[in-house]
Amino acid sequence: MKKLLQFLLLLTANMVLAQNAPLNLIPQPVEIQTLAGAFTLIKTTTIGYSGTEAKPVAEMLAQKLNAPTGYSLIAKQAKAANLLLNLNTKPNDRLGKEGYTLEATTKGVTITANQPAGLFYGVQTLLQLLPKEIESNTLAKASWSIPAVRITDFPRFGWRGLMLDVSRHFFTKAEIKQYIDEMVRYKFNTFHWHLTDDQGWRIEIKSLPKLTEVGAWRAERHGHFGDRADVQAGEKATVGGFYTQDDIREIVKYAAERNVTIVPEIDVPGHSMAALAAYPELSCTDQKVFVDPGTDFSEWYGNGTFKMKVENTLNPSDEKVYEFLDKVFTEVAQLFPNQYIHVGGDECYKGYWKEDAGCQALMKKLGTHHVEDLQGYFMGRLEKMLAAKGKKLLGWDEILEGGISPGATVMSWRGVKGGIEAAQLGHEVVMTPTTFAYLDYTQGDPTVDPPIYARLRCQKSYSFEPVPDGVDAKYILGGQGNLWTEQTPTYRYLEYMTYPRAWALSEVYWSQKKDKNWDSFAKRMEVHFQRSDMAGKNYSKAVYDPIVSTKKDGEKLVLVMASEMPGLDLFYSFDDTMPDDHSAKYASPVTLPEGPITLRVQAYRGGAPIGHLITLKREELEKRVGW
Ligand code: ACM
Repeated sequence: MKKLLQFLLLLTANMVLAQNAPLNLIPQPVEIQTLAGAFTLIKTTTIGYSGTEAKPVAEMLAQKLNAPTGYSLIAKQAKAANLLLNLNTKPNDRLGKEGYTLEATTKGVTITANQPAGLFYGVQTLLQLLPKEIESNTLAKASWSIPAVRITDFPRFGWRGLMLDVSRHFFTKAEIKQYIDEMVRYKFNTFHWHLTDDQGWRIEIKSLPKLTEVGAWRAERHGHFGDRADVQAGEKATVGGFYTQDDIREIVKYAAERNVTIVPEIDVPGHSMAALAAYPELSCTDQKVFVDPGTDFSEWYGNGTFKMKVENTLNPSDEKVYEFLDKVFTEVAQLFPNQYIHVGGDECYKGYWKEDAGCQALMKKLGTHHVEDLQGYFMGRLEKMLAAKGKKLLGWDEILEGGISPGATVMSWRGVKGGIEAAQLGHEVVMTPTTFAYLDYTQGDPTVDPPIYARLRCQKSYSFEPVPDGVDAKYILGGQGNLWTEQTPTYRYLEYMTYPRAWALSEVYWSQKKDKNWDSFAKRMEVHFQRSDMAGKNYSKAVYDPIVSTKKDGEKLVLVMASEMPGLDLFYSFDDTMPDDHSAKYASPVTLPEGPITLRVQAYRGGAPIGHLITLKREELEKRVGW
């Protein structure tokens, strides 16, 4: 009797909890209606699916549930089951290709979609409705309850991507699969794979074996990337790696099973030092170059212009270059079934072209005095080359310079202005501006996080609106976050740089504009921190750190502070004492006294310190005017 009473009490407590608990879903679904009660998974729970197309998704669900619960659930074709994945026989127009409905009652959960992709996203939502222990890769203890709820959900954009640079640092096949596994949990559907750059060529091209025999390997160096010592002739190249064509086919299949399209990038005509290390005859200079181990090979002038001290471009006036590229793109086109091939086009230094007799002759033939037009010519040839292989050209926004090819799709990265211009010219656009979507930028205070040349906080990423005013939304395919890996040498750190900013971007690209709300997101993000802890995944906690900047009031320096996470109190000192919650509490800008002061600031929540102590001397505060 006592046992029964305890059980009933627990059951009621569970029901009340489930009814009142916020759902904490990321990205936020289109419609949520919470209902009374909950369904609890037990070892006899049944998993069913309709139609063989739904089978792989149902099997993935069973597999994901079995590890932490210790159950042996098996997915079976069935008309009824506790967990039912249903493919519509008559499409529900509202749901489109990737949408779903999820109905959880006390009896079970039914996910309905037009296509397997929708079921797959419904399953991701279902997993997020379960307690955080479901994220464990090993047996865990929990009451596996799912709150009763009715959800209708579909994405705002069709292109929801993450880009990963595997040239600056190589990531293994297993790590790429893991990256894909993690991105799909947040309903990303596009993996942009930056496969080639100055620091390594990562894709096997069978007709050009030196690309990976030579181009995939560089001299061993340590220390800050960009400041490393030059390569000496005769030095062994031992650091790197590449994907064989079998690896690539395996990853493409793995991604497709998870509704992820892979967009390969072969970055030309600039960023080609690794290719030139293998085939130096493809440049204007025939200069002997090495795969770059992170040296200081360029000079930047602060306004986006720069000079390459070492040649890293392909020669646009040389037919051999087009023969080379035809071989590369023939194999790339065969490996990747999606319609786009990204050809780079960014940051191409044209100084060596200007000096080159062949390039000058080509300019004369084209009737131009602008060396930039050679890039337009080059991209035009590439667009035709790709079209002949049934593929569409996609490039960074520099492809707008020197004449854009008619069918090209533009990836806007230098802000959104390239995207606006491209859309106004009737081109399709993927939005990925540095200002909101560059995941390599420092996300916390640069005295705590390893500093990079620019900063991007999670809240800023969250505030991104991919459709600029005055642009026809039909041209904006969507957007992505880009992770360049000069300063990301390990998978663990790759996770740290990606999350939580990629969660913020998942909501930018999936959820409805009207439903975006930072305070709501921040609360949900904290629940996903706990879920990530359970899964053993890394992420940054920079959102808990004080944001410190200054402004000038005449000669006086004024301290301005803020925090991303709502509900934090900032306590500070500038008298060389360690601040605690008895120190001055920041409420509004503070005029700092003269003298060699040091600011120390610590965030608190609920009486306990949270995040990092930030310590800044006066001279550093002076440099933060207008941050
Ligand atoms: C880029 O960030 N160079 C596209």
